[in-house]
Amino acid sequence: LRHFLSLDGLSRELLTEILDTADSFLEVGTRAVKKVPLLRGKTVCNVFFENSTRTRTTFEMAAQRLSADVITLNVSTSSTSKGETLFDTLRNLEAMAADMFVVRHADSGAAHFIAEHVCPDVAVINGGDGRHAHPTQGMLDMLTIRRHKGSFENLSVAIVGDVLHSRVARSDMLALRTLGCPDIRVIGPKTLLPASLEQYGVRVFHDLAEGLRDVDVVIMLRLQRERMQGGLLPSQGEFYRLYGLNTTRLALAKPDAIVMHPGPINRGVEIESAVADGAQSVILNQVTYGIAVRMAVLSMAMSGQTAQRQLTSESAS
Ligand code: CP
Repeated sequence: LRHFLSLDGLSRELLTEILDTADSFLEVGTRAVKKVPLLRGKTVCNVFFENSTRTRTTFEMAAQRLSADVITLNVSTSSTSKGETLFDTLRNLEAMAADMFVVRHADSGAAHFIAEHVCPDVAVINGGDGRHAHPTQGMLDMLTIRRHKGSFENLSVAIVGDVLHSRVARSDMLALRTLGCPDIRVIGPKTLLPASLEQYGVRVFHDLAEGLRDVDVVIMLRLQRERMQGGLLPSQGEFYRLYGLNTTRLALAKPDAIVMHPGPINRGVEIESAVADGAQSVILNQVTYGIAVRMAVLSMAMSGQTAQRQLTSESAS
């Protein structure tokens, strides 16, 4: 790894290495995450142009657990409000000797653009770009599934709700397919599903009860109203009536099915509290595993970036 921008095109071996590395950071039998010196002397800079609770704070924690120095730029109080561009903001942070950027941005492709054109010598980790990708969320979802179900073979996984606007759904579908999950189901109304789902090798359902039958994993998604345009979208009440996950509907899945959600959850819109807080919910485990996955990605990307820098300096001398 050098940058970590998307799961598209990454091999099963690499995804498995990320999961194994993340697992190695978790204390056996607890939810505690180890502290290790892998990034001592390095500076990780979080630059979030969009709001975040889980991703920003778990990246901060992950960098601290790797013994890195961490800077988090509060974009809302930064000089971007005085007209400074993304390009200039990042070039200034690079001048402060940042080794890695973790970037979240509302525009799809922002992380790729930064990696290729703005600061190519800094390792760039995508913390979510528009509707495109949220690769560390995809990997922490895979770690959650592997830790609860053992492997991806023979699993049925349902992804439910607003897939159209969800970068998490895209990253999850890519990761599940690469890791060999044989039955990936996508459930939602036509207005909230993208047209090109066949490329992900998924089965599409518009009826929630039909799609949930006998699945091992249910991944619920939030209605992403901030990305919606147009009038064909359901009201929150209508969405809950047709696609909200309640205990009766969850009973259609396997008895040991797990319930996941990337957060933030909207209780009473896509999921009822009895399910979100119930025995089958692993939503908060996902958050903990996010620290370990982000440690894995940061440490692997830093190794790749260091190797690249050595190669560049050797060929220049
Ligand atoms: N899952 C996720 O990306 O949550 P945040 O928006 O709070 O980071």
